[in-house]
Amino acid sequence: MQDMDAVRSDVLAQVQAADLEGLERLRVAELGKKGRITALMKELGGLDPEARRSRGAALNALKEEVAAALEARRAVLAAAALDARLDSEKLDVTLPIRPERQGRIHPISQTIDEVIAIFGEMGFVVAEGPDIEDDWTNFGALNIPPEHPARQEMDTFYLPGERDGRRLVLRTHTSPVQVRTMRNQQPPIRIIAPGRTYRSDYDATHSPMFHQVEGLVIDRDLHMGHLKGCLSEFLRAYFAVDDLPVRFRPSYFPFTEPSAEVDIGCARDGGTLRIGPGRDWLEILGCGMVNPVVLENCGIDPGQWQGFAFGMGLERIGMLKYGIPDLRTFFESDLRWLRHYGFAALHQPSMVTGL
Ligand code: PHE
Repeated sequence: MQDMDAVRSDVLAQVQAADLEGLERLRVAELGKKGRITALMKELGGLDPEARRSRGAALNALKEEVAAALEARRAVLAAAALDARLDSEKLDVTLPIRPERQGRIHPISQTIDEVIAIFGEMGFVVAEGPDIEDDWTNFGALNIPPEHPARQEMDTFYLPGERDGRRLVLRTHTSPVQVRTMRNQQPPIRIIAPGRTYRSDYDATHSPMFHQVEGLVIDRDLHMGHLKGCLSEFLRAYFAVDDLPVRFRPSYFPFTEPSAEVDIGCARDGGTLRIGPGRDWLEILGCGMVNPVVLENCGIDPGQWQGFAFGMGLERIGMLKYGIPDLRTFFESDLRWLRHYGFAALHQPSMVTGL
C-alpha cells in the first residue's frame, strides 16, 4: 500500500504542475500500456486471492483518481487557453468606423447632372451624338458652308478618312446633335445634349477637349419670348440667384436667326466675383431661333414648325459657380484638385433635394 501512496502523491503533484502537453505525457506514463500504474495492475496476478482483491480495488480507485485528476486539470487549462485567446482576439464593435477614402464626383459630371436636373424639370430629354462627326453634320447642315470663317474660328481637328464621301472631324460643338435629332425625330422636340467637344486651343480658359450642352426646342408658334423665358429660368436656377439679371445681346450664328448672346449680371468687388445684381456682365451662352434653312436641311417644314436653340460651355458655367480659376485643371487628373473641387459621391442633384 505504501508504494501506491507514493505513486499517488507523486502523480497528483505532477498533474498540478503540468501544461496541456505534459498532461498527455503523464497519462501515457501512468495509465498507458507500459505505464507505472498499469505495471502495478499486472503484478496482481502473482498475489493470493485475498490480497489480490483488496489491492486490486485500491489500484482501480487510484487509476480512477488519476484519470479524474488528469481530466480536471485538462479542463482548467483548456478554459484558461480559451480565455486567453478570446482576450487577445477582442473585437470592439462599438468603435466608430474608420474613415474610408471616398471617391468624389468630378465638377464636370456634377455640372452636367445639375443642368439635366433643371432642364429635366422643364420637360427636356437628354440626346446624344458621337464625338466623331462628318463635316456635313457638324457644319454643312447647320448652314456653315465650306468657305465659312466659322470653320477656321473653331480650330477644327480633321481626321484622316471620310464617311459617305464626307470628311470626318472631332465635333467642334454639340450643335450636330440638333441635326441628328431633327433627322430622326418628328416635332415637337425638346432636347438637351451634353457632351465632349474639340477645338485646337489651349490656355487658362480653353482646352482642346471641353464640354458643351446644347438645347433644342421645336414646336408650333415658338418665338423669342419662349427662348428668353426658358434660359432666364435656367440661369437663375443654376446659379441659385432668384433676381439674377439676364441680358440678351444681338449676335450672329449661321444656324440661328435671329441670334443672341446671353450675359448674366455680376459684381466684382475687392477682386472677388459675385454672380447676381451688380455693375458688370458676364457672357455665358449663345442662342437664337433655329434658322429655317437648318430646319429644311433636316427635313422639317419651316412653314409649320419653329424652334429655338442654345449652346453653352459646361466648364465655363462650372468654373463660375464653383470658383475654379483654370479650365485646364479639369483634365489634369490631380487627385488633390478633385478632392478639393469634387462632390459627394452619393448626392444626386435634383430640383427637389437641391442642386
Ligand atoms: N454652337 C455654338 C457654339 O459652339 C453655340 C450655339 C448653339 C449658338 C446653339 C446658338 C445656338 O459657339
